[in-house]
Amino acid sequence: MPDHVTRLHFGGDYNPEQWPRDVWVEDMALMRRAGVDTVTIGVFSWALLEPREGEYDAAWLDDVVGMLDEAEVGFFLATPTASPPPWFTRAHPDALPVRPDGTRLTHGSRDTYAISAPAYRQAARRVARFLAERYGDHPRLRGWHVHNEYGTLDHGPHAEAAFRSWLRRRYGTLAALNDAWCTAFWSQHYGDWADITPPRATQYLANPAQVVDFRRFSSDEMLAAFLEQKAEIRAAGSAAPVTTNFMLPTWNHLDQWAWREHLDLVSVDHYLDTTGPDGEAHVAYGADLTRSWAGGPWLLMEQSASGIRVGDRQAFKDPDRMIRNSLGYVARGSQGALFFQWRASLGGAETWHSALVPHAGADSRVFDGAVRLGALLDRIGEVAAPPADGPVVEADAAVLWDANGWWSLETSHLPHDGLDYASEVRATHRALWRAGVAVDFVPPGGDVSRHRVLFVPSHMAMDAGTAAWLARYVESGGHLVVGRFTGVADEHQRVVPGGYPGVLRDLLGVRVEELRPLGDGETLALSDGSVVEQWTERVHLAGAEPVATYAEGDLAGGPAVTRRAVGSGSVTYLSTRLVQRSLDRFVASLLAEHGVAAAVPAAVGTGVEAVRRRAASGSYLFLLHHGDRAVRVKGPGLDLVEDARTDDGIVLEPGQVAVVREDEAAAAWSVTPL
Ligand code: GAL
Repeated sequence: MPDHVTRLHFGGDYNPEQWPRDVWVEDMALMRRAGVDTVTIGVFSWALLEPREGEYDAAWLDDVVGMLDEAEVGFFLATPTASPPPWFTRAHPDALPVRPDGTRLTHGSRDTYAISAPAYRQAARRVARFLAERYGDHPRLRGWHVHNEYGTLDHGPHAEAAFRSWLRRRYGTLAALNDAWCTAFWSQHYGDWADITPPRATQYLANPAQVVDFRRFSSDEMLAAFLEQKAEIRAAGSAAPVTTNFMLPTWNHLDQWAWREHLDLVSVDHYLDTTGPDGEAHVAYGADLTRSWAGGPWLLMEQSASGIRVGDRQAFKDPDRMIRNSLGYVARGSQGALFFQWRASLGGAETWHSALVPHAGADSRVFDGAVRLGALLDRIGEVAAPPADGPVVEADAAVLWDANGWWSLETSHLPHDGLDYASEVRATHRALWRAGVAVDFVPPGGDVSRHRVLFVPSHMAMDAGTAAWLARYVESGGHLVVGRFTGVADEHQRVVPGGYPGVLRDLLGVRVEELRPLGDGETLALSDGSVVEQWTERVHLAGAEPVATYAEGDLAGGPAVTRRAVGSGSVTYLSTRLVQRSLDRFVASLLAEHGVAAAVPAAVGTGVEAVRRRAASGSYLFLLHHGDRAVRVKGPGLDLVEDARTDDGIVLEPGQVAVVREDEAAAAWSVTPL
């Protein structure tokens, strides 16, 4: 069984090439002190590993690996292909990425590659093969970290050729493509494949079907590049697990569901985007999403040690918060907590990025936090081995997540430019998180047999198969909640006529005649006291019952929220955007109605986040106190953090954590503010 399945990892990206060797010696000592057992090496090492085309020099990396070995630190070995060296760019200028406006990017940063360029693909395969042959069976190799955050889009000539081939495979004939892309409008009819380009800068609006297909193509193209490297690794005889680190910031270039079957381990880089308490919900969102992609345990490959980049500054993340956040990921199935990066750079592009060893050195609160986290992960290591059956986290609520939904809402000139897929999904997830329930994300057509409620936040373009899957879910007793502007178009962004939301009209039992976005800052009340913003619709009932109506505005008296019962299941439609506090209330009452309980109901509203993780050796309750008032937590179990029984209660001070091995799964717990 690979190591990552049976233990929690602690450590991070280690870029020793930035330092003289005496620092490496100190690094090893400090890693031992902090209990670091895993580093990622080689992410940015291409220029040193292959100083000239086809000439390799890995003596220095041999030394690093030897030192890690001696210090008993395992490593993920990255293939360095996210950052091609300067000589590569000079030799193969055609392998630089091109922006939609035709600007060819130049060297001087990183990620300067055109994913479809043959020279790049060949060089990437070669360096992967070299590394796999040299280190592929090293006993400390935990796995392969192929590339780094695939995500550079290229609109240049190589992408153009590859996009055309992809389109030929997808559509077969130009007639089918013309039909799907609605090219009859604006004289866009294609008479020759050679006329088709990536969506580049245009005089006015781009064709939305072309835009979304290009995103799908780009994800497939990056997956193909990944698979080539994986094949080289396997061909060299290395059997170590292969991963690539996903990233989920404000952009998304990958269809992660399509990648997951090719990954031995799903890993992610996750960075907080707010300093406020919503950061904790953000951790939960990233962790739930990655666990869902993985279908089980996964690995947090990067987070920041002490910085939160917000707007124009780098805010400080306190060590206690870093520890709580780390456990937030572990509670949801991460096999540990890794960071970017081990030691803070003294120069270069990421000088001011935080690190486990900050500029101040080991004599610091930040390094102290690292030492504390290392010890803590060691104490709770038994949570790592997954249960013999069933999921690591049992969730009764699910949210549909689909990159295609994201890309559709990024097309231009929609009824409201403020429609944003990630915000919609996060608002729903946030409401579920605040209700204290566990959440899974599911792909279109995924297994939702255990989920009592399923949310589909604004998902404009939907294929008939997905609509049929949602109908089956409801018919088999599920409770579906559909957000506005969902299923109004097919998978080619073509509106289904006759009233919105075309593909879901019958299932929802409504017919929407008009979309009526609101002005900036404009809000309206609903009959149940909810407040809505951004969007309203003129809804006609066609089988559904009204749950709430618009209480003011042009649509006053008209249905705003509807429900249609289908056997023992139901489908609810939100024709508007509830402001977060109204959404929280709506979600909480829906969960109560359908018997979806919080992990620890008594914890809701106390500032204590309670998450249950199932493991081979039992059920573990993670209690993370984000609030500002001490609480007493009581229930049958053993807190592994303090090695103390919890039957008579333990006190959790603000900022503190407990990880309790429960005597019985899902026992009753009390949480009392002091
Ligand atoms: C990640 C990336 C790292 C580092 C980090 C800084 O997205 O993989 O190499 O740049 O961001 O936040």
